[in-house]
Amino acid sequence: MSETGFSPEEIDTTKPHPARMYDYYLGGRDNYAVDREAADRVLGHAPFIRPTAQGNRGFHHRAVRTVVERGIRQIMDLGTGIPTSPNTHELAREIAPDTRVAYVDNDPIVATYAGAKLTNSGNAGFVLADLRDPEAILDHPATRELIDFDQPLALMFVAVLHFVRDDEGPLELVQSLTSRLTEGSCLILSHITADFDGGTALEQAAEVYKNSTAQLIMRSREELLPYFEGFELLEPGLVRPPLWRPDGPVPDAEELLMHHGYAGVGVKGGV
Ligand SMILES: C[S@@+](CC[C@H](N)C(=O)[O-])C[C@H]1O[C@@H](n2cnc3c(N)ncnc32)[C@H](O)[C@@H]1O
Repeated sequence: MSETGFSPEEIDTTKPHPARMYDYYLGGRDNYAVDREAADRVLGHAPFIRPTAQGNRGFHHRAVRTVVERGIRQIMDLGTGIPTSPNTHELAREIAPDTRVAYVDNDPIVATYAGAKLTNSGNAGFVLADLRDPEAILDHPATRELIDFDQPLALMFVAVLHFVRDDEGPLELVQSLTSRLTEGSCLILSHITADFDGGTALEQAAEVYKNSTAQLIMRSREELLPYFEGFELLEPGLVRPPLWRPDGPVPDAEELLMHHGYAGVGVKGGV
């Protein structure tokens, strides 16, 4: 049993897992043959998934820095993913060493790595739970220890809500958590979209995910904007991830064609 309360024997290596496929897109080594085979099929249909994943990770970095610079000192990172340095607590602590981070993921392999790479430095904990069960997240000892809902908090849903189907009520699930946030709290969200896919590449990619442990659901900008109800979007709004407060050269029109997602950060009650 690991220190996150999870036994590694429970890891399923017979089905592709989105966390391990994403690790493969990012060039990581924490994946199995079954994941690489599925990820290669996705990339065969939609080669832009790799730059899309990298662009998303860049957004993750800039968004964490932005909210911590605004004074946020506690973060819940839902759909953590396999640890990829710099992780959320490392980014936050470069600015404010006292920042507390609760990582949440439903994938046992993420739980296995979390003990070694995410939660070994104090003030960070891991919650092995499913975001479709918000009460389990809220009742978890790590959440109770690290997170104070009476203080401003950043909730991160970065590249995770596209694994929650419409019939599972993703908007209601997010609202069940955001409704508890105080004013000044932040919502960090990114999501894959087919808005820029003129063909069927993403439809075919989504077919591959049907054999994995979670389906891949595309959502349009109009479908994503309601997640920010009650929040004011920080400039530049809900945009393609590389266009969200770039800290390097802005991608040209051709490079942007490789980024099939939306990203934004909202502040509850207004900026
Ligand atoms: C594409 S990765 C994103 C990782 C990280 N947030 C990032 O953007 O770099 C999606 C992660 O969400 C997790 N995930 C998917 N569905 C989930 C659910 N229902 N509850 C909790 N985690 C989930 C997966 O296990 C995976 O680790």
